[in-house]
Amino acid sequence: MGYAAQAMERTFAMIKPDGVKRGLTAELLTRIQRKGYRVVGLKQFVISRELAENHYGEHKERPFFGELVNFITSGPVVAIALEGENAISGWRGMMGATNPANAAPGTIRADYATSTGENVTHGSDSPESAERELGLFFKPEELL
Ligand code: PPS
Repeated sequence: MGYAAQAMERTFAMIKPDGVKRGLTAELLTRIQRKGYRVVGLKQFVISRELAENHYGEHKERPFFGELVNFITSGPVVAIALEGENAISGWRGMMGATNPANAAPGTIRADYATSTGENVTHGSDSPESAERELGLFFKPEELL
């Protein structure tokens, strides 16, 4: 009997302005820590338009891009760097599908959100985006 290979990964997680406004920060951090991920970076701030457009650059041509940038800059977010085994897909799994209507019961989007735009959290979708997004949101010395 063998064990599946588990990679120690870092990923970028964000509590979006709707989550912060609704007072879900402590609850979401609790879920993250109960799962066993380590919080290696954490800060609350309002994202500049420049950072928002850069972060969501791959969606520039999508019809909702303007709305997405307006929303994500509309209030403070909590940027989180997470570390743990298979943290990239693991955090995506905890969030559930982008559209809360399709999110599995017990996931964050199923439990706390109703809209595809205002869906409480973000998570990097690959090792490449995790590295890119962590680099956009954190200086190396801010990651412990
Ligand atoms: S995915 O995961 O890339 O397939 O998801 P996608 O549906 O392409 O959505 C990418 C991000 O855009 C947000 N989104 C929207 N924002 C505002 N309005 C509308 N209509 C809308 N549709 C999608 C969605 O929440 C995704 O944000 P992140 O932060 O990446 O989860």
